[in-house]
Amino acid sequence: MNQTIIIKKKFKDFNKRINISGDKSLSIRWVLFASLASGVSKSKHLLMSEDVLAAITTIKKLGVKVKFNKDICIIYGKGINGYKYKKNITINAQNSGTLGRLILGLLINTTYPIKLIGDKSLSKRDFKRISDPLSMFGANFKLTNNKNLPLKIFGSTNLKPIKYIEAKGSAQCKSSIIFAGMRTDGTTFIKAKKSRNHTELLCKYLKLPIKVIEKQKYDLIEIKKINKIIPFNYNIPSDLSSSSFFIVLTALAKNSKILIRNVNINPSRTGVINILKRMGVKITLKNQKYYKGEKNADIFVRSSKKLKSINCPTKFNSGAIDEFLLIFLIAAKANGISYFKNLAELNQKESPRLEWGSKILNQLGVKNILTKNSIKIFGNPNLKISHKITIKNYFKDHRVFMTSVIAALSFGGEWKIHNKDSINTSFPNFINIINELQK
Ligand code: S3P
Repeated sequence: MNQTIIIKKKFKDFNKRINISGDKSLSIRWVLFASLASGVSKSKHLLMSEDVLAAITTIKKLGVKVKFNKDICIIYGKGINGYKYKKNITINAQNSGTLGRLILGLLINTTYPIKLIGDKSLSKRDFKRISDPLSMFGANFKLTNNKNLPLKIFGSTNLKPIKYIEAKGSAQCKSSIIFAGMRTDGTTFIKAKKSRNHTELLCKYLKLPIKVIEKQKYDLIEIKKINKIIPFNYNIPSDLSSSSFFIVLTALAKNSKILIRNVNINPSRTGVINILKRMGVKITLKNQKYYKGEKNADIFVRSSKKLKSINCPTKFNSGAIDEFLLIFLIAAKANGISYFKNLAELNQKESPRLEWGSKILNQLGVKNILTKNSIKIFGNPNLKISHKITIKNYFKDHRVFMTSVIAALSFGGEWKIHNKDSINTSFPNFINIINELQK
């Protein structure tokens, strides 16, 4: 199949209501929690992307049965200590940092060593941030280059609870430590810089012994050993990160409107909405409601006539961590100079995304100044391009691909964007929805 997409035409205006696929973070977490439950759990609207399928393959390898009945996923959990597997198994987290990091917390007491591998992109990413805290519990690790995959985890049955300061604001680290704490006698204490809190909310919904005290910049989390998780059904809401491609496409269009139904708007994820609203993007949240501890809403967006630059408050960084490439496109068309700082974590993603943000802006001809952890973007409200642009060699980072498509459709020019299959990581339906908007 040809994996290059060519875009030569700008998008026509649209007025549509759309559904987006399920949230990736919640889908992976549901699969992992359901694998530990004592009995049968079912989910609807589970994201059927490669990251989530990798999570399903992983729990199957750990002896858990999974079935699909149309759009319902059924997991036959075997209880907290129910994983049964052969000696010397290898788990392949493929492209998924969330799966690779969270599963290690659950494997902390493995009696046989387990090998964890991933694709090219995941193999470049930092796993020391997980092996360091999990070693404190009593597990041992052998990593490649002291910090990368492939790694081997040697579990322990003599685990000790830990006190840990999670200073990166990584939900993956925090969640992995929570999972390890669930397997350990005594109480584990985490002081965690703010990050998405889906794991904590699921623990609370499942009435597990977790305590969270929210401070302004960090959370204090206590987690005790758990003995049982009751099976639970879950209707996964749509993914705000995936929705953001269409929020930005609409904002940059001349005269368009979109309504995106039932999107997860967990406040720890809505940095993108807060930032875009301050930049003049017209977003309204409708029909807000709570579902099993998570907040969901329909998102309504209209094209914006005037976009404003922003000196982005760092308090929004963690809640927008997956959306910065898109936010940079808004800054490219905003009036004035935008400044985004303390963003070193962006270079720890599937590709060095802060660098890729700058590369895309350079291709667009938008002046920007990049440092190791910040970017200044000199916006041009009349931005229109007609030259040729090629996007390739970006470690198949799904968000680089989809952001480039949105830039091509919004600003014009002749684009050749490689590795279309990267969308399968998080949003296999992306191109179909784009096509639907032009019907
Ligand atoms: C995620 C956490 C974030 C985010 C990733 C999903 C999660 O990563 O970028 O796409 O589901 O926990 P970090 O924990 O590395 O910040």
